[in-house]
Amino acid sequence: DKGLRVSDKGFLNTAVIRSEITYIDGEAGSSYPQRFPKSTPEACCRGYPIEQLALHSSHLETAYLLIYGSLPTKSQFEVFQTEVLHHGVTHSDAAQFCRSFRYDAHPMAILTSAFAYLGSYYAEANPSLQGQTLFSKGDKASLAVMDKQIYRLIGKATTLAAMAYRVRQGRDFVTPPTGLSYTGSFLYQMDHLGEENYTPNPILEKALDVLFLLHADHELNASATTVLQTGSSLVDPYSAIAAGCASLYGPLHGGANEAVIRMLISIGKPENVPAFIEAVKKREKVLSGFGHRVYKTSDPRSFIVRKTADEVFKITGKDELLETAMALHEAAMKDEYFIKRKLAPNVDFCGLIYRAMGFPLDFFPVLFAVPRVVGWLAHWRQMMLQEGGVKIWRPRQIYVGSGKRDYVPINERI
Ligand code: SDX
Repeated sequence: DKGLRVSDKGFLNTAVIRSEITYIDGEAGSSYPQRFPKSTPEACCRGYPIEQLALHSSHLETAYLLIYGSLPTKSQFEVFQTEVLHHGVTHSDAAQFCRSFRYDAHPMAILTSAFAYLGSYYAEANPSLQGQTLFSKGDKASLAVMDKQIYRLIGKATTLAAMAYRVRQGRDFVTPPTGLSYTGSFLYQMDHLGEENYTPNPILEKALDVLFLLHADHELNASATTVLQTGSSLVDPYSAIAAGCASLYGPLHGGANEAVIRMLISIGKPENVPAFIEAVKKREKVLSGFGHRVYKTSDPRSFIVRKTADEVFKITGKDELLETAMALHEAAMKDEYFIKRKLAPNVDFCGLIYRAMGFPLDFFPVLFAVPRVVGWLAHWRQMMLQEGGVKIWRPRQIYVGSGKRDYVPINERI
């Protein structure tokens, strides 16, 4: 087998790139100056702990940090925000496309397709130009093309998401006024109810912005890997982001925030939790919102999600599923089956917040995809500008199939 070694199932212990973007430490916070007690996992974006960014930064400022590597100066941020918001509000190019879906289409299917649609629309995405849009750090013209693609994709993510939401309700799309934040502009496009001076509730806007920031990037998760695998063939970034969206849609990944709520609804009252836990242990049910490939004690984001939930519930009132969620959390954390498998709650309990904010259930994975476009683009840009240029991702396999054999005509087969 030519010295090939099969990486563990699901790339369990396989590093495919070196990256400067996000660092997560699932076992302990030992790799940085000892800021946390040994048993606290860490997530840092370009070296900044996620806790500090959630407290002091915004989703769009963290987007700049993830993509360009440093916190922006005031003027850099103003240019970035203006460009992103500008591209976010013009939606004539995809409106008709989004209206072509059935009334009950899952919004993630609409969003995934709409990103690919954008690739059919923008000239620089044209495959025949691909050879000419090889990016290099030294070439200002190609970097300008790349920046424009990045602004468009981050801006359009909110517009396409709002379209996927409104298509279902047969409502027209709206152009938000200038002066709103990225998240405020998104909320305006989502929920503009025709009020003249619509202003998003500042506490809900801030809460959603924190959740967007928490979801912006997470190292080389399944969808980021998909974007890099796809982008390594030099296809345009709109198509690569569409591929990432498709990967995130799955219930083992970004689709879990929807699956968590469906799970809690199916459990119903807290007194039904023990029976559900037994069913999970018999592998008859999956405990969504628990477990993680890297975090084996807790997901540092989940603590911030919980704090954010408290803020939101002060406005919206507690969600009746909260009690069941807490009972489930308590039961699982005490149960040997889950302790042995190191299963802790992950970021996907944020669905309780989205539900309290009034988003439809099947829209939750879209609320994961919109901010994650940032992380996908950060990794894509890092790959496009890597020393020595892009290498297509083409892993090998170990063949364990049938030996060589001759063809048998059909009437001689028994
Ligand atoms: C996200 O990668 C990222 O960073 C992802 C993410 C990001 O920001 O991009 O953090 C976002 O996707 C979070 C995860 C959301 N998914 C879910 O909540 C779905 C439920 N979780 C599981 O499907 C699972 O935990 C995964 C997919 C998250 C992780 O799967 P792994 O790492 O492949 O773990 P595994 O399947 O090998 O599990 C190890 C053991 C197994 O038991 P044994 O076969 O060894 O007896 O734990 C069991 C699993 O059966 N197990 C679970 C479980 N998760 C793992 N058993 C019950 N319920 C679960 N949720």
